[in-house]
Amino acid sequence: MKTQNISKLICPKTKSELKLFKSFEYSGENLIIGTLINNSGYKYEIVNGIPDFTTLTDLTGNASFARKYYASIAETYDENVHITFELYNENESNIRNRMIDLLELKPNFKVLEVSAGTGKDSEIIASRLNKNSELWLLDISPEMLAHNMERLKNVEIPTEFVVASACSLPFADNYFDALYCFAGVGHFPDLPKGLKEMARVVRPGGKVVFSEKNVPEWLRDTEYGKICINNNSMFADPVPFKHIPIEARDLCVKWINGNVHYVFDYTVGVGEPNGNFDIELPGERGGTFNTRYYGKIEGITLETKRKAIEAQKLTTKSMHRWLDEIINREAEKILVKAKKNEMD
Ligand SMILES: C[S@@+](CC[C@H](N)C(=O)[O-])C[C@H]1O[C@@H](n2cnc3c(N)ncnc32)[C@H](O)[C@@H]1O
Repeated sequence: MKTQNISKLICPKTKSELKLFKSFEYSGENLIIGTLINNSGYKYEIVNGIPDFTTLTDLTGNASFARKYYASIAETYDENVHITFELYNENESNIRNRMIDLLELKPNFKVLEVSAGTGKDSEIIASRLNKNSELWLLDISPEMLAHNMERLKNVEIPTEFVVASACSLPFADNYFDALYCFAGVGHFPDLPKGLKEMARVVRPGGKVVFSEKNVPEWLRDTEYGKICINNNSMFADPVPFKHIPIEARDLCVKWINGNVHYVFDYTVGVGEPNGNFDIELPGERGGTFNTRYYGKIEGITLETKRKAIEAQKLTTKSMHRWLDEIINREAEKILVKAKKNEMD
């Protein structure tokens, strides 16, 4: 990795900055072997030019399985991955390009690909960027990333590789313009955290695109759907609607690649959406979204309610306005009287 890019990384645990502790081997401008250190003395090794941020806590459960599994198939992954598309009579290049289109990349963007693997999508993303961009390729498997590095070795755009867990990204908030992840989400050991991390590191206005295998509800009872689920139970995992971060805006989801892979794309916003909830609503009920939500007080008897509805209809006011004025007037009377008694 380029030493000047170390300042663009942070410690994923403490979110503090990282410094070069030791550098042992360079190849031209690239640091090949070295050690990074955070402000509490915790160290991360750089091996083959790739910093490894995974700690023992990252490598439990699913993550430990994924790291071992992908180490064991890294060598043959590229020979076999076309099957993931041919099974459904799809063209791999078309599907990958369609998903990457959703990133709406500009040539100078800073892009993070999570679970980048051997780089089949990394190569396409790189082809859409220029020398002023940054492409960061992250995976939990050093073996998969080694193949990615080999694939991209002649690419002339600034590219860096990082071994880390998708659930603990070593980047500052809002650093990237776009984030992409194909077929990684299903392996995340903490899916809500992984999806939150995606939104955290992308700037407001930037795009997040992620995709995973999934037989949608309407295909669950077909032979087609059952055959897919029978082959790999991940096809039956729930679509992670409830874990989509609150910052997601204009979210779209569609099923592509044989209709058995969902693709989410959304624009990152700030916090929860803002509403214009003080707008007075027309009609008999009246009031605003805010008065209806915040203005609730104790219920009344059915008899009083019936009378109130009858009486309100004889006024020109909405129920909200009528009640608000009556209650306000009565409350004011009592409060003024109480104040007067206090002063006497
Ligand atoms: C099915 S492969 C997909 C690779 C690549 N995106 C592609 O399209 O060919 C899944 C990738 O997810 C990575 N992965 C699994 N768990 C991960 C995690 N917790 N954090 C980051 N990457 C992970 C694996 O190492 C593997 O490279």
